Amino acid sequence: MPEGGLEVRGLVAGYATATVLHGVDLTVAAGASVALLGRNGMGKTTLLRAVCGLRPPTSSAGSIRFAGRDLAGLRPDEVAGLGISLVPQGRRVFPSLTVDENLRIGARVVAGGWDRSRVLGLFPRLGERARQMAGTLSGGEQQMLAIGRALMMNPRLLVMDEPSEGLAPAILELMRERLMAIRESGQSLLLAEQNVDLALAMADSVSILGDGGTVAWSGSSEALRAQPRVLAELVGLATHDGGTWT
Ligand SMILES: Nc1ncnc2c1ncn2[C@@H]1O[C@H](COP(=O)(O)OP(=O)(O)O)[C@@H](O)[C@H]1O
Ligand SMILES: [Mg+2]
Repeated sequence: MPEGGLEVRGLVAGYATATVLHGVDLTVAAGASVALLGRNGMGKTTLLRAVCGLRPPTSSAGSIRFAGRDLAGLRPDEVAGLGISLVPQGRRVFPSLTVDENLRIGARVVAGGWDRSRVLGLFPRLGERARQMAGTLSGGEQQMLAIGRALMMNPRLLVMDEPSEGLAPAILELMRERLMAIRESGQSLLLAEQNVDLALAMADSVSILGDGGTVAWSGSSEALRAQPRVLAELVGLATHDGGTWT
C-alpha cells in the first residue's frame, strides 16, 4: 500500500445498544478517491466517525491505520493532526461565528495548498458572505462552508459524509461541479453518499456496506456501473431502462 493511505481491517464497532460494523475492510490509497455506499442505517456514518476518532461509536476489534500509524485510541484532534479532515453529515458549522471565522478554525498553511482565496475561488458565495454569521446561511451555503473549512486544513485525506444530502437540485448541480473540481485537484477522498450518480463520478472505487455490517461489494466505479443489479440490490435503486447505469 502506498505511503499515506488509509487501511481499515476487520473493524468491529458500534454503540452500547448494538454492534453495527461486523468486520469491515476498507482501503483508500494515497491519492485515491473511494465512495462508500449503502442504504440508510447500514453504518456509513459509524465507519467514518470511527476513522476520524469520534466517539461514539466504540470499536472492539480490528484496526484503523493511516500513513502507517495505528489510529487506535487517538482523539479526533490527533487524527485531524495526522491529516484526516471530516465534513460531517448534516453540514455542521459554528452558527454564531462568521463565515471567515469558520474558515480559519483549524486552518493549516501548506505551500501550494488550500488557503482562503483558493477556497473562495471554489465557492465565491462564501466570499460574498464572509462576515455573515454561519447560522444565517442557507443549507447549501453551510455545506460549502463545511467543505471549505475542511479544505483549509489541507487534509491528506478528506472525508465527507453525504455532502449532497438534502440539497435543492440547482445547488446539487453546483455542488457536484465543485466536488469534481476538488477531486481533480488530486485530493484524496473518502466519500459516503446515497447519490450513486455523484459517487460514481467522484470515486475510482466503491465499497458498499450491506445488511451484515460488512462490505457486501467492492470494486471499481466502472465495474459497478456495469452491474445495475448490484446497485438495485444493495443500494436499493431501480436502474435506468434496466440497462447500465449512466
Ligand atoms: N449514537 C448512536 N447510538 C446508537 N445507535 C446508533 C447511533 N448512531 C447510529 N446508530 C445506529 O447505527 C446504525 C448505523 O447508523 P449510521 O452509521 O448512521 O448509518 P448510515 O450512515 O449508513 O445511514 C443504525 O442502526 C443507527 O440507528
Ligand atoms: Mg449517515
